[in-house]
Amino acid sequence: MTMHSFTELLKLFEEKFNTRQFPQQPVTLYDPAQYILGIGGKRIRPVCVLMGNQLFEEPGADAYHAAAAIELFHNFSLIHDDIMDKAPVRRGMATVHTKYGESTAILAGDVMFVKAYENLNKIQPANLQKVLFLFNVTASQVCEGQQLDMDFEQREMVSFDEYLNMITLKTSVLVAASLQLGAILGGAGEANQKHLYEFGKHLGIAFQVQDDYLDAFGNPEKFGKTVGGDIIANKKTFLMIHAFETALPAALAELKSLIKNNPADKVEKVLQIFRDCKADDWAKELKNKFLHTALKHLEDTAVISSRKKPLQELADYLMMRES
Ligand code: IPE
Ligand code: IPE
Ligand code: MG
Ligand code: MG
Ligand code: MG
Repeated sequence: MTMHSFTELLKLFEEKFNTRQFPQQPVTLYDPAQYILGIGGKRIRPVCVLMGNQLFEEPGADAYHAAAAIELFHNFSLIHDDIMDKAPVRRGMATVHTKYGESTAILAGDVMFVKAYENLNKIQPANLQKVLFLFNVTASQVCEGQQLDMDFEQREMVSFDEYLNMITLKTSVLVAASLQLGAILGGAGEANQKHLYEFGKHLGIAFQVQDDYLDAFGNPEKFGKTVGGDIIANKKTFLMIHAFETALPAALAELKSLIKNNPADKVEKVLQIFRDCKADDWAKELKNKFLHTALKHLEDTAVISSRKKPLQELADYLMMRES
């Protein structure tokens, strides 16, 4: 059985996926849906499906159907997320609602969600019930996480555990489920499925930590989203929680006043407080902690260790990513 690297699997996926996924008419609905797929993205989740699958078999048609479903669901969630977060840019381009209007963006998202199920419906009946169960649980969790994320904007502060629960739901379970879906389709046993899920879950937490870090400290040339967007929206990221917990009294008072009064220089002032609280060190510590647990679960997955290499490389890449 040949082993494909992340790059090879990405190429194989995109050969199928980078064609028009939607009908032509009405163009006012389907062009916006195709637009977000066409402006790229790292395709981490569909490749996770294929990587989870190739631990157990040469990726077949069903793995590609599941991968397409996951990427469609992910892009649907991004369209709606950008409305909720009032985000003007994604992947270095105008967001769907900025370009086509909010109502169309909502509907384009909806139809992509349906398209995801159309892809799942192509999967062989033997695995379909398990696949749908996991997909549905996960999709509901993403909605729950997204609601918590918005609820937290309205609160002065949340605990670190609340943050962890929120990012687990909104982000990491989808990475986890992607890997498990691939494993299910590859005929993996329950124990292996579980370890892969836990690998993805912990990696996904580290991934969202890096996302939150980049939102504050990323290079605007590379990041593809508005740097400082989370600060403007009063998101309760690990950076904000850490600052609330460790800032000296004067800095804490300043932080609270910046949040309350929204001055024009809010982002740069908040960033300085983050820096003074050693945000960099805390980000590294957190990422390493979750990466470590992730890798333990990968170790405990009972397949020959040489087959795990692409997943180890994915983990390294996600920790260092700049976009
Ligand atoms: C963005 O995900 C949404 C988050 C969960 C942070 P990605 O960073 O994987 O987005 P793309 O698909 O590569 O653009
Ligand atoms: C988004 O989290 C998670 C989902 C889309 C479900 P963010 O709001 O941090 O993602 P970005 O930074 O906009 O990509
Ligand atoms: Mg967002
Ligand atoms: Mg969001
Ligand atoms: Mg973000």
